[in-house]
Amino acid sequence: MLAGLVLLEALSIGLFAALLIRQQAHEVHEHMLQRLAHEANSMALQASEALQQQRPGWVGLSVKMMGEAPSVSFAKVTDPAGNVLFVSEGEPETTTLDPAERAQIPLVAPNEPRVFVFQGDRWEGVKPIVTGGDLRGFAWVESDRAWDFQQLNSVLRGTFIFGGIWIVASALLVLLMARSISQPLAILHRGTRALMNAPEQSDNFPLPVAVHNEIGELIEAFNRMVASIAEQRSGLNDTLSLLDSMLANAPIGLAFFDRRCRFVRVNQVFADMTGVSLSRHLGRTLPELLPQPVAQELENTVLRVFAEEGPVRNLELSGQGGPLKRGWTWLASAYPVRTNPQQVRWVGVIVLDASDRKRSEEALRKTEKLAATGRLAASIAHEINNPLEAITNLLFLLENFCQLEDTASNYVAMAQHEAQRIAEITQQTLRFYRQSTLPTRANLGELLDSVLSLYNGRLSTLNIQVERDYDAEMDLFCFAGELRQVFANLVGNAIDATTAGGRLAIRARRSRNWKDPEQTGVRFVVADTGTGMEPEVRERAFEAFFTTKEVTGTGLGLWVSHEIIVKHHGLVRLRSRTALAGQTAGTVFQIFIPDDPNLAAPAKLAAAATA
Ligand SMILES: Nc1ncnc2c1ncn2[C@@H]1O[C@H](COP(=O)(O)OP(=O)(O)O)[C@@H](O)[C@H]1O
Ligand SMILES: [Mg+2]
Repeated sequence: MLAGLVLLEALSIGLFAALLIRQQAHEVHEHMLQRLAHEANSMALQASEALQQQRPGWVGLSVKMMGEAPSVSFAKVTDPAGNVLFVSEGEPETTTLDPAERAQIPLVAPNEPRVFVFQGDRWEGVKPIVTGGDLRGFAWVESDRAWDFQQLNSVLRGTFIFGGIWIVASALLVLLMARSISQPLAILHRGTRALMNAPEQSDNFPLPVAVHNEIGELIEAFNRMVASIAEQRSGLNDTLSLLDSMLANAPIGLAFFDRRCRFVRVNQVFADMTGVSLSRHLGRTLPELLPQPVAQELENTVLRVFAEEGPVRNLELSGQGGPLKRGWTWLASAYPVRTNPQQVRWVGVIVLDASDRKRSEEALRKTEKLAATGRLAASIAHEINNPLEAITNLLFLLENFCQLEDTASNYVAMAQHEAQRIAEITQQTLRFYRQSTLPTRANLGELLDSVLSLYNGRLSTLNIQVERDYDAEMDLFCFAGELRQVFANLVGNAIDATTAGGRLAIRARRSRNWKDPEQTGVRFVVADTGTGMEPEVRERAFEAFFTTKEVTGTGLGLWVSHEIIVKHHGLVRLRSRTALAGQTAGTVFQIFIPDDPNLAAPAKLAAAATA
């Protein structure tokens, strides 16, 4: 643009110079004409004056003087017929009139000087010399063209010098303008492009403000605008990272759907719940990823939220399959997501895995039932005890004070035996119910016997061979009631797993901790030849509420047992395998309980766990 400006200026100066030259040339020409007329006039006057005073020699002198003038190349005087009398240079005889000059003679008016051109570009002025009304001759003055051109040249030189100075001054002005306008504008232009191409990149800004004019202010305003955009962007980024981290880390499943019920976004928890990878959700519909009828129900809910533009809360969805092998329960809420107040753009669904809660509720119901049954059994046992006492006493009287036949006394002995068994059962039942809260030194033989006698009925029905391998006199400082609970759970599970004709072994030996040989205590083994456990079951057997017994199981037995063992600072080890290529299936629980008189002290090794 600035170069264009300079060019325009040069052009206009050139045009101006051309016009000026034309004008000057014209003026110089006009001057020359006037001058020639004047010079011819004055020479004629001088000549007529000289002739009047009878001094023709002066005429020659005045011709010579005229010839000396710088603007005159040649001057001469002729007689009326055109014969040259005097010349400014050379001899009069050598000079004759040019035919063009001679042709002028009849055209010359008596009082007017005449100026004419001849031989192309020679200019000459001529004036008649008159004295007392008589024509005495003509005064001829020829202009010096070189002198004229010199005049024109000096004017031209002036013009060129002026033009040159003007162009240099303009260029300087343009340079100055370039510095203060075009350079900052270029910087601004580059800045705008940088902002458009890489809005994230901040090292291009702020733009340098080198000038203090309106453009400088414009650049400053631009810098402020860029800074405020950057600030807004960083605020937006903060909010986005906040939302992202919430979406990624919230312990709830989150999914967003468009109007066609396709997933637009889900979080990892949701992906874990459906068992499909995060990216595979996008663009798919619910029936493609979830089993029916849950998919349909959830889809209807999403559509309902789009239609009603209001949230739907606490929808309970239950299904089978997916990553959790067992049944699962979800608690879902759906709500509209608006990007402007008039329109619902997406529907967000929050899903909470309520399977554990559901299972705990069920287990709690079962445990409550069990506890109530236990209480009922205890009160029945208590009630039975009194009449049983009476029966035992009566049988004693019958045996000792009546003369009975042998057969009758046999029957009495059998009745006494059975009454004794009833008494034992009621006693065990009561013992289970009334658990002591303080550790005592308990007899282990008695403790294990009491557990087995509790399962006597089932053991003999299933014809399970029981192998007892423990010293009847062995004792241990422990919470006897709770330890009894542990063995009841283990024996109960073993019987659950064993089919008719199986074997069950219970052992107890004084031993040392297998992790810390310094520590002495008792090692128990409960082993069965039952079905055994698959590795996944073995992994999770100690988890609360983990059970493979759909209806009858609570999944609490091993969990409670583990807690009790930890409370005793003990250890438990589980080995189990299912029937595989001729190997017998079975399960072995090994338990070590330290014989620790300081047991009542708070558990230090609460973490001492499965090994
Ligand atoms: N002796 C065993 N043989 C085979 N499986 C067992 C044995 N003991 C426990 N299990 C498995 O461990 C699971 C958890 O046992 P438990 O905590 O006692 O709960 P529940 O007996 O109520 O199922 C059982 O469901 C069963 O699958
Ligand atoms: Mg159990």
